[in-house]
Amino acid sequence: MAKKAVPKASTKKPAKKSSIIITKQIKQISKKNPHAASLIPQCKPTLVKPAKLSGKIVVTAALPYANGPIHLGHMVEYIQADIYSRFLKLAGKEVIYCCADDTHGTPIEINAMKEGIAPEQLIDRYHREHQQDFSDFLVAFDNFYSTNSPENKKYAEYFFKKLQEAGLLYQKDVELTYCEKCSRFLPDRYVKGRCPKCKTDDQYGDVCEKCNATYTTTDLVDPYCTICGTTPVRKLSRHYFFKLSACSDALKNWISNHPKLQKEVKHYVLNWVNEGLKDWCISRDGPYFGFRIPGEDDKYFYVWLDAPIGYIASTTNYTARHKQDIDDYWKRGSVIHFIGKDIIYFHLLFWPAELMVTGFTLPENIIVHGHLTVNGEKMSKSRGTFITAREYLKLLPPEYLRFYYAANLSHTMSDIDLNFDDFRNKVNNELVADLANFTYRTLSFVNKNFDSRVTSFSPKFAEKLGQGLPRLFQAIRAAYEDVNFREAVKLILEASSLGNKVFQENEPWKLVKTDKAKAQEVVSFCASLIKDLSIAVAPILPNFSTQVQQQITVRDLSWKDVGVPLKDHTIGEAKIVLRKLEGEIDRLKPGPSGEADPFAKVDLRVGKILEVKKHPDAEKLFVEVVDLGKLGKRIIVSGLAQYYHPDELVGKHVVIVANLQPAKLRGVERQGMLLAGEDAAGNVGVLEAPQSDSGSQVYVEGILSKPLPQIIIKEFEQVHINIESNVAVYKGKSLKTEFEEIVCDRIERGNVH
Ligand code: 2FM
Ligand code: ZN
Repeated sequence: MAKKAVPKASTKKPAKKSSIIITKQIKQISKKNPHAASLIPQCKPTLVKPAKLSGKIVVTAALPYANGPIHLGHMVEYIQADIYSRFLKLAGKEVIYCCADDTHGTPIEINAMKEGIAPEQLIDRYHREHQQDFSDFLVAFDNFYSTNSPENKKYAEYFFKKLQEAGLLYQKDVELTYCEKCSRFLPDRYVKGRCPKCKTDDQYGDVCEKCNATYTTTDLVDPYCTICGTTPVRKLSRHYFFKLSACSDALKNWISNHPKLQKEVKHYVLNWVNEGLKDWCISRDGPYFGFRIPGEDDKYFYVWLDAPIGYIASTTNYTARHKQDIDDYWKRGSVIHFIGKDIIYFHLLFWPAELMVTGFTLPENIIVHGHLTVNGEKMSKSRGTFITAREYLKLLPPEYLRFYYAANLSHTMSDIDLNFDDFRNKVNNELVADLANFTYRTLSFVNKNFDSRVTSFSPKFAEKLGQGLPRLFQAIRAAYEDVNFREAVKLILEASSLGNKVFQENEPWKLVKTDKAKAQEVVSFCASLIKDLSIAVAPILPNFSTQVQQQITVRDLSWKDVGVPLKDHTIGEAKIVLRKLEGEIDRLKPGPSGEADPFAKVDLRVGKILEVKKHPDAEKLFVEVVDLGKLGKRIIVSGLAQYYHPDELVGKHVVIVANLQPAKLRGVERQGMLLAGEDAAGNVGVLEAPQSDSGSQVYVEGILSKPLPQIIIKEFEQVHINIESNVAVYKGKSLKTEFEEIVCDRIERGNVH
């Protein structure tokens, strides 16, 4: 639905989920109250409150999944919301910035299982990692909590109860994809197969990467479970649905009358509403990591039910610790969400509908930003082209990125591009050459020529030199209020350029010899402007601002101090705070380090062939017994019969995939796979490590080996090993044991499989 008009990911999940289900079931609206929605006072449009931005304000950013590292795409939003909440605080508002890890769902449960740890351990590890990343990027959350918390459980159950009482929940049977081997239902990321439309192989259960068709897991042709590789079945399961359709009018009214939502956002959402809202499945079958649904044995709240509730839970955790009242935020205050355009559906439909029913305050604003591209390309986990927050921080200071993002973030849904050349230019020519240099140049001049003393200057003098500055600073404030940081940066740079110009044109280095007092007035005027700039830029560059204020020996300034000239006083020592960039950014080439390289999952070992026999049932196959040292002996089935005599193979030290899930090949179970190379002419030769002991590990430098307990053949197929000059090579680096490179005598150049 609305697929063409919408940024690709926006509607995908909810639209698909509900449409699947709707078409396949009999609607069983709550027996108690079949026309629930029309009777629900909470869903009436009268609940729409005028936007006010008064009282206590809570700013939120979308909760990151506790299932992977924070990357630069995430940082757009955390920085954007951080700038906004810092600005509001600076402007004297009572604001808290709350977030949490989004800890529930199938991927977290499965990843923990694969690592052999409890989900709680996994989410704890990411929680610590995320917190460190945010703090190092100067993202100042007042609370960074977890959705796996007692507060969140309580609220999730409360929401569920309220929806139920309002007659907005019903149950129905849904046909889903089920893996009998894994004993679990398979969400769309865990089942692959051929696209039902264009028949492309290896597509996930929701959308085809080739033809963009959307469908459900049960539509896939020749599906297989991505966990164990077997063919799943279809199975019915009874689920809870939220009758979103009953809230259409209330939502439509709220959205169309909302004074602050971006026009483009309204446009999308109203389109969806007009096309007809589908009800929403809010439960999942176990095994699942999440909150069990009260009264159910093995059903859990869908992660997207308790995730936004996590905003309230995080706020509650904060208010409890600070002896404040949660209702001051979520009943009487203002709530401002920052989100990416891929989750509009959840935040502008499901979430406000739930808030209407439960009686919490509706969002004062929901600010939607675009996605990040890097050098014009989409960052993608699966393609291994994303840069983690940590990778950036190892090379560069956080404020360069904060500045760059701010300079590119206007109040729109346009994607923003992290272009390395543009990044270097903006940092060097605007941030450093303009703002930072003006600061250092002025303050060091005051240090040297006036014994660090700044003086007051006459208002007339200020008027003459600083024409237009008051208006400029008002406009900066308005730009922040409007969440148009690009405009704020532009105006801040205009103000610092004006300062540079005053310095340049008045030539204090000459004036100091002829009229010292006037020269001091000029630089004191500049110092006052620096103080104002340090306030104006504080939301974007909090460290720079603090350091500059320390140098001018002022502190705790807020927006109301803008335009108040510095009094006679002594400043501290000028220091360079930000330096020009050189080639650092180019070292930040997107690499596959965000997610473990597919090679890392594979356990490659040297094995000595002890015995080779013909396969009883297949001419082309050999059955080998291979010794893997400490790992024991394994039966291998290989397609080498056409290429080798058994005697040629016995005694060879070959390379074996040791963690491949066992499978039967024509009736013989293989317990691993032997690697061989093939060239363009069809010659085949085994990979060898003649000097290495059985069981030795085969690795590639720079890829930390983290083999999974078991992989499926499809996972191994993602690892493209080549032969170059008779050596096995992965991503340009040779495969090795402690003693030697892995070789293939028979093949000079070819592929390994
Ligand atoms: O899309 C995501 O990454 C989700 N974890 C965002 C959740 S935001 C909120 F609803 F909790
Ligand atoms: Zn399975």
